[in-house]
Formats: sequence, structure tokens, C-alpha cells
Amino acid sequence: MNYQRIHDQQINDFIQMIGAEYVHHSSEKKNVYGKDHTEDLFYAPDLILRPQTTEEIIQIMKYCHQQNIPVTPRGAGTGLAGGALPICGGVLLSMERFDKILDIDEANLQVTVEVGVITAVLQDAVREKGLFYPPDPASRGTCYIGGNINTNSGGPRAVKYGVVKDYVLNLEVVLANGECFWTGANTLKNSTGYNLTQLMIGSEGTLGIITKAVLRLIPHPSHSLLLLAPFYDPASACAAVSAIFRAGITPSTLEFMERAAIDYAIRYNGGTSLDIPDDIQAHLLIEVDGNHLDTLYTDCEKIYEVLEQFHVGSILFADNETQKNELWKLRRSVGRAVKLNSIYKEEDTVVPRASLPILLKGVKAIGQTYGFESVCYGHAGDGNLHINILKGNLDDDFWKNGLSKGIREIFELVKQLKGTLSGEHGIGWVQRSYMDIVCNPVHIQLLRAIKTVFDPKGILNPKKILLSTDE
Ligand code: LAC
Ligand code: ZN
Repeated sequence: MNYQRIHDQQINDFIQMIGAEYVHHSSEKKNVYGKDHTEDLFYAPDLILRPQTTEEIIQIMKYCHQQNIPVTPRGAGTGLAGGALPICGGVLLSMERFDKILDIDEANLQVTVEVGVITAVLQDAVREKGLFYPPDPASRGTCYIGGNINTNSGGPRAVKYGVVKDYVLNLEVVLANGECFWTGANTLKNSTGYNLTQLMIGSEGTLGIITKAVLRLIPHPSHSLLLLAPFYDPASACAAVSAIFRAGITPSTLEFMERAAIDYAIRYNGGTSLDIPDDIQAHLLIEVDGNHLDTLYTDCEKIYEVLEQFHVGSILFADNETQKNELWKLRRSVGRAVKLNSIYKEEDTVVPRASLPILLKGVKAIGQTYGFESVCYGHAGDGNLHINILKGNLDDDFWKNGLSKGIREIFELVKQLKGTLSGEHGIGWVQRSYMDIVCNPVHIQLLRAIKTVFDPKGILNPKKILLSTDE
């Protein structure tokens, strides 16, 4: 579809709808809203709108639908697949003013939020009432619930508690043509027709604008214990992961970091109190949580027993909050730390967890063949390995055109291992051309048909998830 650039009359119409203070087209603003956290990509929007109410979004969408204006919704812009980049220009719809927690329903263990609420703000608010919203992406201090829903994000705790899809009960959605509806009910069970709530989750702003969400909460566990286990060989660390579950333990997090990942994070954080011997090549960061400390200590003993079978180094037991916070700070900053050193392409591979050692070995072998360096880390308990391919000294042409062959090989291996392209970051703009590896033509055709039903004119977040038929 050919989109027109936005003209002055249209800008005035948007000003009428939401007020001049919330309509922007300066180059400064375009520079901010034309980027997210994906590589060094930049696509300028024609116009940035910052509405505050569902009613305003209904008006905006009706207008854009009628005038064929592309609309790219944006949360906090922390995405790693380019989902919030306004590739075709048009309107960038920022959800930042949808920042209210509307109701914490303690009787039903639910919370109703607008989608621009920061994930950590929501977590802290419900924590004050003894409640827990577990999904915790690394960017939780800045990312929005709406972005989390649109990518079905997870984070370290997903291994025990599940991902965003396991907590969303009901969504308010404005469709491409400005019509508005709730996808479900505020109930734990719902067998009422097709599950449009789950269809919207992970749809990356391509099917509708999610404006409000009703989320399930659980009681907050009272205790947690954290271990850092060093390994002389990354393959042993990966192999230990499935053995822990086979021993009957479900840790609340089970994270993997190869040596380079923790080294980058330590430099980024200006040093560490940890003593990491030179011959350590990887770490597992393992947390258990619950309400009975005795049980947690017993779990840790069992974990020690399992790890000892995998040539583990000297395990650090983090026994105070300061040390726990330091370890989590290191783990959560890996992505940012790597980026500070080099632009990178982020692959968000996920395989059944017992196949992790084969995946890691395969990624390194493919890197050798194509001449790229990678830093691997992630949610090993979920089989979700983040592969940061460093640009470093690779030449621009190879980076833009040659590297995709190597990435394709990684994804073909993932497919062979019965895994898929993305565990929690989404497909967005940068992974679209690999969709054929994991979705056969029948599958792609169904995805296209769904998109057409929701957005027949193709104005919502164009060029995301699927390649256009003419690409
Ligand atoms: C993390 C983000 C990159 O796990 O998903 O750090
Ligand atoms: Zn992650």
C-alpha cells in the first residue's frame, strides 16, 4: 500500500482531537521516537501523537483509517525486534500518557491498568498489598505493560511463573477502523468463542491498539535464595539446566551467562565484589522462592548435588540482599553492557531446554564459519538463549547483507531442534524474513488472513511480523 506523507491540514485535525501540546513534528522529537532499542535503526515518523484516553484513540484511528495514514503504536521503546519503529512514516502513537493503575482488586487478585504503566511500577504497587505480578523483563524499570503484552514478554521468572500470556485476563482494544471492544471477561476461566485475548497478546500492534488490561495476580512469595554457579565449560552449564528439573526442582529463575556476558556486565557496572577465576567460562544464576525457608534450603542442597555432577566451580550462595541485588544488576544489564561496546543483532532463540547444549555449540560453529563473534546468555530454564552477534569490526556490507545467511543457519538449527525464532522479543521488523523457516505456507497464509480481518487497509504497524506480498 502507498501511504501519503502527513500534510498541514491533517496536523491541524489531530490538534483539534488531542490538543497542540500532544502533537509533535520537530526533528528533536522525531529523533527520539524514530528509534527503539534495536541495533542502530532509525525511521522518522511524520508526526508523534500522545493521546490520553481510549476515546481519543478511537477518534485518531477513525481518522487515520479514513485517510490511509499508517499508525505505529509505541510503549517505552525498549523493544529489541524493531516493533515500534515507524517504518512507513505516518503517525507514531505513543502510549506514554496511559500511565494509570485503575484498580487493584484484592478480593479477586486482579489489577486493571492502562498500558503505559511501567512494569516495575505495577509490580511495586501490588507488592505493597502482598501481591505479585511475576513477568519481569530485563527492562522492567522502564518498559510498559502494553509493550510486554504486545511481545508476550517473559524475563527470568517465566521458568516458574510463566510469561505475560499467563497473566492477561481481558484487554480493551481499539481496532484499525476506530471500533472498540473488550476481548474477554475478568474471569480465570473463559470458554466463550475464539480466544481473542490470546490472539492480541504478542500481536505487536499489528491487529489493534491495546489500551487497558486486566491482569491476574498471585500472592507474593515471602523468601528467595540465590546461587551463582561457575563452570569451566559452557556446555556443562547448559547440560546442568535440564538435570536440575529432572531432579524434581523448579527454580524461580535459571539464567545462563557465558563468560563474555558477565565480563561486559561487570565493566558496565564499574567492577564487582565477585571473584571470578580466569578459567571460568560460564555461569548459571539460580533462584528458588517460596514461603518456607527450610524447603528452599533443601532445594538448594539438591541443586548443589546436581551441579556437582557437571564439573562446577566454587558455588556462591548470595545470603544477603546487597549481594542478591548485585547479581541481578549484573544479569539485567548484560544487553545494555554489550551494546555499549558494539552494535549487535539480537537473536532470541528458544528450544526445548534439554537441547540447549546443542544450540550453543551450533551457534559458535556457525559463528566460526561466517566470522562473527557472539555473546550468549539468557533464560536457560526456558531454553531461551539470547544470542548477541557483535558488529565489532565486521564490514558494513557483510553486516547488512551477508550476515543474514548465518542467522538463517542459526534459525534452521533452532527449527531442527523443535524450537522457534523468538521466545520473548517478538518478530517486529528485523526477524520477518526468517518467518518462513518456522511457519509453512499454510501457516503464513492464516497469519495474513487474520491480519486482513483486523486491518484490511494495512495501516496498523505496517511491515511488521510478516513480509508484504510484494517484498
Ligand atoms: C534479557 C533481555 C534482553 O533477558 O531479554 O536481558
Ligand atoms: Zn530475556
